[in-house]
Amino acid sequence: MRLETRAVRSARGHVRSDTTREVGGAHVPPIDLSTTYTFDTAEAVAASMDALIEGAGEAPNPVYARLQNPTVSRFESALADLESAEAGVAFASGMAAITAVVMAACSEASPEGWARGRHVVAVRPVYGGTDHLLTSGLLGTEVSWVESTEVASAVRHDTSLVLLETPANPTLVMVDIADVVSQVRACETRLGHRIAVAVDNTFATPILQRPLELGADLVVHSATKFLGGHGDVMGGVVATSEEWAHPLRQIRMITGGVLHPMAGYMLHRGLQTLPVRVRAQQASARVIAERLVLHPDVIAVHYPGLSGDPVETRLLQTQQVGPGSLLAFRVRGGREASERVMETLTLICRAVSLGSVDSLIQAPALLTHRVVDPASREAAGVPDDLLRLSVGLESVEDLWNDLEQALATVARIVPEPKKAGPGLGEGAVMSAASPWESRAPSGEFEMVGGAGI
Ligand SMILES: Cc1ncc(COP(=O)(O)O)c(C=O)c1O
Repeated sequence: MRLETRAVRSARGHVRSDTTREVGGAHVPPIDLSTTYTFDTAEAVAASMDALIEGAGEAPNPVYARLQNPTVSRFESALADLESAEAGVAFASGMAAITAVVMAACSEASPEGWARGRHVVAVRPVYGGTDHLLTSGLLGTEVSWVESTEVASAVRHDTSLVLLETPANPTLVMVDIADVVSQVRACETRLGHRIAVAVDNTFATPILQRPLELGADLVVHSATKFLGGHGDVMGGVVATSEEWAHPLRQIRMITGGVLHPMAGYMLHRGLQTLPVRVRAQQASARVIAERLVLHPDVIAVHYPGLSGDPVETRLLQTQQVGPGSLLAFRVRGGREASERVMETLTLICRAVSLGSVDSLIQAPALLTHRVVDPASREAAGVPDDLLRLSVGLESVEDLWNDLEQALATVARIVPEPKKAGPGLGEGAVMSAASPWESRAPSGEFEMVGGAGI
């Protein structure tokens, strides 16, 4: 079945009368809020307990909600289905999911044959919280931050995990997943053990990109974003093999970062509209990116493929089927001007987070990446004046009108334009053949993006 069908139907069982009979014929799966599950015989409950302690996804008796919950299990298997994974393991938040991945990979918990060292290789930028988790060494790990093309040279005998985000938060830089995987596989041959490659797929979602199909071992999501899609549920999930799901479930059982069943229900429901939302939001984001490029007071636009960089153009044909609905931009006049633009918006919501039905804007240096030290932030391409926009489902014309009126404040506080606006219809244009075909507008405009930038 195709992705759209699976998004609507996975883990629902409403076409099979034998499954629906168990829940009284309900068309929509019920929410199981029970924290504990009764048992009849000691022998049977002990067998279930043993299976769950070993990291099994399901046991005949769930025993206790920190070990297993049927509502959460449905979301896990539906998400796994969309990510082409054997299993999904849900957590209380994206950070809880990432923490569990680092713990599983960099400890004795990792599966047989996989490295158990404490070294992580990571590609910047990543979400500020992830950056902080790795840089702080809170989990007893050491991190080497590298360019995506230099992963192999950073891998050591004690490297257990390679972590990347693509498109990256907040610069939208794309990383060639297959290339990173092949660099890591070459190191494995040399070192004689496996090294886990984890990809944060929050920005792309499985609708646009499925990293496991490109050879990655673990996919992480902040389910709080597109999977929920309405800004009202917090969660995280890892899509992976059963081999990795076992230690992840064991870590979840011990550390307790479980997803609440109500959140599991809402995320499962969110998946049903994910393909439609992602594509509609992406269509508007493309229009906005194109118009921002042409705006005289905008000095840089970050959007996958917009720069015409050949690597990104290729990745948009082979890795990611569309640029998505996140973009970032800079206005002339620096941080003060960008903050003023943000504050002048009347429709677009000033708030962190992304992937919601409504458009959200924030300044990464001010908020999501504030915990990253300023020098590392700058080096990763995140200047203080960068604004990140998550485009929602509002009318694109209403969104543009709001942006345009807010951008008018730039001319008031910084009177001298640095470049002549090339006018609508020139500059970056979309084409059906390649995702984007761009030619640089005149002036000092910077089109940002492209792997390696
Ligand atoms: C790419 C990415 N990964 C992970 C996270 C962390 O997710 P959560 O806020 O659900 O813990 C975020 C949060 O913004 C994110 O943007």
